[in-house]
Amino acid sequence: MKVTLILTTIIITMTTTLLAADITLPAPQRTGGKPIFDALNERQSTRSFNDAALDNQTLSDLLWAGFGYNRNDKRTAPSPLNIQETSIYVILKEGVYLYDAKNNKLLEKNSGDFRKDATTGQDYVTTAPVNFIFVIDKSKNGGNGSYLSVGAISENIYLAATSKELGSVIRTSINKEALKKSLKLNDNQEPIAGQTIGKKK
Ligand SMILES: Cc1cc2nc3c(=O)[nH]c(=O)nc-3n(C[C@H](O)[C@H](O)[C@H](O)COP(=O)(O)O)c2cc1C
Repeated sequence: MKVTLILTTIIITMTTTLLAADITLPAPQRTGGKPIFDALNERQSTRSFNDAALDNQTLSDLLWAGFGYNRNDKRTAPSPLNIQETSIYVILKEGVYLYDAKNNKLLEKNSGDFRKDATTGQDYVTTAPVNFIFVIDKSKNGGNGSYLSVGAISENIYLAATSKELGSVIRTSINKEALKKSLKLNDNQEPIAGQTIGKKK
């Protein structure tokens, strides 16, 4: 009985380890880049992207700029009473991941290509390499302030993308119902907007 239990535990642990495809990101580059006023001067929305994947360093830098930790328990974007109600989900060609800002990892939530769920009909979204989805946790009671939180995160990402000569566009035309399933959200979680990013065509 005891041996069976131990064997079962070992098999479950091995299977979970083999299946888990979390990605450990390189440390973000927290200094340098274009001067902020140059980035502001060049910021714009892009809707034509090269399909080529972005490397993990670029992903790490963009996510940190968006909503990484720049102090012990505080982040690069503000939130009402520091409730930090926004999560960034990352849709890549190969799967869906949750940005774990504390550990600088992408935690796999789903495997497969779910880019079509990030739009209600804008074709470039389904071929661009990266879509960030901003998801708020309504149980944290940010109210309308949560829309401002998402806006601040998105602008940080716009400026970081501009600094790296990448294109990006914030979009509220996302398929919320489909995303709730592909991102495996709970009832308190609501996707608010998506931001498509990639090299400009
Ligand atoms: C709240 C919000 C929602 C938006 N939703 C979409 C969208 O669904 N699709 C899209 O292509 N652009 C969307 N945009 C981008 C705007 O169209 C864009 O910012 C505007 O045309 C100004 O262009 P610029 O960003 O280049 O200055 C959105 C922008 C904001 C602020």
